[in-house]
Amino acid sequence: MSGRLVVVSNRVPLPNERGPRAGGLAVALADALGPGSLWFGWSGRRTARAGATSATLAESDGIAYATIDLSETEYRLFYAGFSNRVLWPLLHFRLGLVQYRSDEYHAYRVVNRRFAEALAPLLRPDDLVWVHDYHLFPLGEELRARGIGNRIGFFLHTPFVPPEVLRALPRAEQILASLCAYDVVGFHTEQFRAGFLRSTHEILGLTPDEGGGVTMGGRRAQTIVDPIGIDAEGFAAAAEQSWRGSEVRRLRASLAGRALAIGVDRLDYSKGLVQRLDGFARLLARYPEHHQRVSFLQVAARSREDVSEYQDLRIELDRMVGDTIGQYSQFDWVPVRYMTRPLRRGTLAGFYRAAAMGVVTPLRDGMNLVAKEYVAAQNPEDPGVLILSRFAGAAAELTEALIVNPYDPEEIADAMHSALTMRLEERQARHRALREQVWTGTARRFSERFLAALQATDGSA
Ligand code: G6P
Repeated sequence: MSGRLVVVSNRVPLPNERGPRAGGLAVALADALGPGSLWFGWSGRRTARAGATSATLAESDGIAYATIDLSETEYRLFYAGFSNRVLWPLLHFRLGLVQYRSDEYHAYRVVNRRFAEALAPLLRPDDLVWVHDYHLFPLGEELRARGIGNRIGFFLHTPFVPPEVLRALPRAEQILASLCAYDVVGFHTEQFRAGFLRSTHEILGLTPDEGGGVTMGGRRAQTIVDPIGIDAEGFAAAAEQSWRGSEVRRLRASLAGRALAIGVDRLDYSKGLVQRLDGFARLLARYPEHHQRVSFLQVAARSREDVSEYQDLRIELDRMVGDTIGQYSQFDWVPVRYMTRPLRRGTLAGFYRAAAMGVVTPLRDGMNLVAKEYVAAQNPEDPGVLILSRFAGAAAELTEALIVNPYDPEEIADAMHSALTMRLEERQARHRALREQVWTGTARRFSERFLAALQATDGSA
């Protein structure tokens, strides 16, 4: 790769905060981000007044980190507001949750402008700039407005919606047009890309060319499908190591020979947690043979707590877990274990290996890396079974999972029953196919494919 890589995302895994809880993006980019590269974004800090326009610099392992703070008002309007009360629900097909306010849209544009103002002076002419996710749709356009002619790519980690849904977004034209300022726009699945191309066609009147590009104002944006993956080898090794560690030992001792089912998510309404817990309760109701035989551990790490829908969901889940525990527990068996504190990645890897069933049932998800991690963590001799929502991006690749409609708790209950009673040969055969997928579509492949596509564009057109 010629030129320095500059990654831009709203959240930046600052060196002192990395380690075992590093997010999917940090892991996915680990191979691409060699010494000399730069990661730019929000510091995670909120200040009383508007922050400085110049970035704060840090360095670790040769990677430079440049961050800016957000003011409390920017945080409220840009992050909790337009990003997470408009774009997030919209991109997850939850129009009923969209709450548009023009002052929040304005703040969204202003923060993107501020990002561009702070980033532009740090850029060198041959840098490859790679922008991530829905918080930063207009960043490319803002950089162009400052005369930045570099190759700039954008990757969307959420789903993209068809025009019938996108049209509900006030300012849909501006958002779509701003995406056309990038040289490459990447999606996890063909369906998301198709939604984007149909939207640019129907809303902006742009006809895609044969190569899957759209041209606006003389600039061509190439679209690509590039599913994100994990470091399969590394995660499998972490699972084996953690399997022998004290936390897995404690977990297994606490199970006293019972099967473990596991779900790990952010506490988010897109994750289908209500329907999943309902599905597990129906498993217990319909198949009493599983009483005393299985424990379901749901980790739902608290997230975006300033947004009221997330607070409401937490209350709802507390109630549901309480109901199920009250109804089915026996004095020596609690069917559901529920925690809203996050666990370290290494610990989770061992827990996945210990689990006979991994339950990944989002109502919508861009990709969902837990599904891939669960597969990578299994012991191929005695693998667990993955239950996967048809509406997770991962379902396009992990077709040998037990695929379910996440809106149907009875279907989830039946899939859980199948998983818990599946014969070893079938588990092994499914796992072999899933493993092949996870080992092929790795994190390294994801970034290599994206950067090759970006490199192949003309640059400043
Ligand atoms: C999703 C988004 C990411 C985001 C993450 C955590 O995976 O695609 O962009 O960083 O959730 O959410 P948060 O709001 O805490 O950044």
